[in-house]
Amino acid sequence: MALVTSKEMFRKAYDGGYAIGAFNVNNMEIVQGITEAARDLEAPLILQVSKGARAYANHTYLVKLVEAAVAECPNIPIVLHLDHGPDFETCKSCIDGGFTSVMIDASSKPFAENVEITKKVVEYAHDHGVVVEAELGTLAGIEDEVKVASHEASYTHPEEVEEFVSKTGCDSLAIAIGTSHGAYKFKPEQCTRNADGILVPPPLRFDVLEEVTKRLPGFPIVLHGSSSVPQEFVKKINEYGGQMPNAIGVPEDQLRQAARSAVCKINIDSDLRLAMTATIREHFANHPGDFDPRQYLKPARQAIKDMVAHKIVDVLGCDHKA
Ligand code: G3H
Ligand code: 13P
Ligand code: ZN
Repeated sequence: MALVTSKEMFRKAYDGGYAIGAFNVNNMEIVQGITEAARDLEAPLILQVSKGARAYANHTYLVKLVEAAVAECPNIPIVLHLDHGPDFETCKSCIDGGFTSVMIDASSKPFAENVEITKKVVEYAHDHGVVVEAELGTLAGIEDEVKVASHEASYTHPEEVEEFVSKTGCDSLAIAIGTSHGAYKFKPEQCTRNADGILVPPPLRFDVLEEVTKRLPGFPIVLHGSSSVPQEFVKKINEYGGQMPNAIGVPEDQLRQAARSAVCKINIDSDLRLAMTATIREHFANHPGDFDPRQYLKPARQAIKDMVAHKIVDVLGCDHKA
């Protein structure tokens, strides 16, 4: 199967009450870990590449790695998506360079400007058979290329979504309902503690999602910042010399609930980083003499595969939907 757009995937996910996992890729082991899990579970898949990933690994290398995965996984549909495209030029470069889906993220701009930039990307993308994700509302969080302070983050205003979608013609919409990027999604003071003293973050704003869905029936919604920051990885990282105090993510039961709704795409990157880092730290602690990268990248790739398999089955519900 060649690379596909997410059009058909989202229609089936919407009707079927599940979501597609959109996982960020930066190198071969990450691509392999994710795609082996999706292939074994017959799950449709989105592999996404950020501006930072293109700067790190080079556009051509990433496209070729994904093309290799497509060849190795003929039983599943795979989308190659630009994550957080910052401007028209980056989107154009990915559209011209083999991507089947792009995100234009002008969510930090005023509404009219967001509409204008998004519309320009949509016109070019649709002329080239590529679909477009846009964003309304801003998420808090810190990555290389996505930095929004929590006080600047705001939930999506449902009253804006119809006008935005009809004016831009975008194919899916990322909304802000309380998720955020990175491994520190909530400050401890925003959380409560359960009986075991574990931090419990505030619930996602399902009321905002519901309001958006009412105004855009049948339209695919996207959730960014949806890593759950598994505590077993955080514990392992801290146990083996790392320092990630108070790392916390979105509880998986809330993501499962979102996947049953109009949310058709759930973005996960930080959990891949945690799985890989925890495994490599543990490996070096137990095998201090190892220096062949294959010795520690092999278990790291396996940890990614296991984590993604868990997400596909227990969070996204997209196993055997290829
Ligand atoms: O939302 C952003 C993704 O986690 C990508 O992060 O810009 O560090 O590649 P990055
Ligand atoms: P996480 O940082 O929660 O993994 O979010 C990733 C993301 O939204 C990529 O666009
Ligand atoms: Zn994101």
